[in-house]
Amino acid sequence: MKHPSPYAAPGFYDKALRDGRHRDIVGGRWDETPRIVLPLLAQHGLTATDHLLDIGAGSLRLGRHLAPMVAAYWATDASRALMLKGWETELDDAVRQTLPQQRLIEDAAFAYPEIPETITFALAFAVFTHLPASDLHKALTNLRPRFPHLRRILFTVFLAPEGQIGPHRQKDGVVTHPDRFPWHMAEAQVLALTAAAGFTARPLPHRLPRGQVMFTADPATP
Ligand SMILES: C[S@@+](CC[C@H](N)C(=O)[O-])C[C@H]1O[C@@H](n2cnc3c(N)ncnc32)[C@H](O)[C@@H]1O
Repeated sequence: MKHPSPYAAPGFYDKALRDGRHRDIVGGRWDETPRIVLPLLAQHGLTATDHLLDIGAGSLRLGRHLAPMVAAYWATDASRALMLKGWETELDDAVRQTLPQQRLIEDAAFAYPEIPETITFALAFAVFTHLPASDLHKALTNLRPRFPHLRRILFTVFLAPEGQIGPHRQKDGVVTHPDRFPWHMAEAQVLALTAAAGFTARPLPHRLPRGQVMFTADPATP
């Protein structure tokens, strides 16, 4: 495999940002995505008192709405330059007040450096659709000990039927793969790897852009 995702290609972010593509490279759909996702976050437990970690936040397509909705908003991404571009071009002054730039942390290894342990809720929207299952496992395994107050993470993946070998066409036409971008997994694999990382996961029935499926994962009680 050359790169797990297009994002990992050398120079990808530099070129995309130079070309003014910070909206496109997180998937476009800047109105539709928050319109669909924000109510789901509230429905599945995000409240105004939460300290939210937005993993793989990109150019803040969701973050620009989320930052003023919660007690504290922190974001990570493989590219801090991409998050800063969103901060500079997509946030109005009032939202910037709620989101100091120091809360945008570059982290491609799901190690969560510099994020305070006060985090209570996490989100990874359209991130593990772009990465192999091993990254979802790593992200969850590292989350648990770093954030003792974490109540829940919401994340999305593409699913394929159990036993599917080779590509799978999602409902809205995207073709996903077991061994390259865009990645899919079987539901049982998602449940097994979240359990191995110390979480109890549950798939949600909502229809999401491109056919991705949202899961809740809550720290399992010993
Ligand atoms: C489709 S975008 C979604 C961005 C954002 N969550 C949203 O919904 O607007 C995928 C994001 O994952 C980020 N990403 C890719 N690989 C990553 C990694 N290894 N660690 C952290 N972020 C990564 C990309 O930079 C990109 O911003």
